[in-house]
Amino acid sequence: MAEVRIVSSPAEGGALVADHIAARVTANPDFTLGVATGSTPLPVYAALRERAAAGTDFSRMSAFALDEYVGIPVDHPESYHSVIDREVTQPLGLVPTRVHVPDGSIDGIQTAGERYERSMVDHGGVDLQLLGIGTTGHLGFNEPGSSFASLTRVKTLTEQTRLDNTRFFSSLDEVPIHCVTQGLGTILRARHLVLLAFGAGKADALAAAVEGPLTASMPGSAIQLHAHVTVVVDEAAASKLKHDAYYRWAQSNSPDWQQL
Ligand code: GLP
Repeated sequence: MAEVRIVSSPAEGGALVADHIAARVTANPDFTLGVATGSTPLPVYAALRERAAAGTDFSRMSAFALDEYVGIPVDHPESYHSVIDREVTQPLGLVPTRVHVPDGSIDGIQTAGERYERSMVDHGGVDLQLLGIGTTGHLGFNEPGSSFASLTRVKTLTEQTRLDNTRFFSSLDEVPIHCVTQGLGTILRARHLVLLAFGAGKADALAAAVEGPLTASMPGSAIQLHAHVTVVVDEAAASKLKHDAYYRWAQSNSPDWQQL
């Protein structure tokens, strides 16, 4: 079962996760962080920037992104290359060649998934993967129906996901239809998964992922197959969890030696 941590605000969740990452990076400067996009991980990145300003050295850390849109220029402000560069690479002082994002250019799209898989395996994998969850239950861009064994590949976004992401573009028409995303099988290879969810809009998907049946119709439920998962949620996102009393009990009895 996932370790569920219910926090009072996204900022508290971000600080909790950032403290853990900073400690891991201090112990192992060559740590590899799996980075996610969307609004959810932003409090983690904000807290990591504070740790960097306070002296944590992230310069040897590597990063792998979950996904990228197909067919928008790399330098488009909403390409995930740009978002990761803006939110993570520059402010934390990472070496750009150690930051990897799937290649969403049309030229070479046939091999984009395979190349990304190889780069992850050659690197030695991801130590901690940050995850958000879409309202459709997607992890990365693995929409409902994605195989639990899937690897990095091209996927078609659902209309719901395109609508959800319209806020980052000037109109729905500008939101790409296709993406390259790590598969659920790729995500499950990371050594530790940290799934974050904030706000009432995520409550149904979060409860289905954490406590619902294992099904490809709810890609988030794939986390139940992983041996080390931490779920960080605010009260609103936790509101549909059936075992919340147990999570709170475990949290209030968490010994000092217990890590995230
Ligand atoms: C995005 C990303 C996912 C993210 C999800 C939720 O489109 N591909 O990695 O977790 O949708 O986004 P948000 O955090 O903005 O709600």
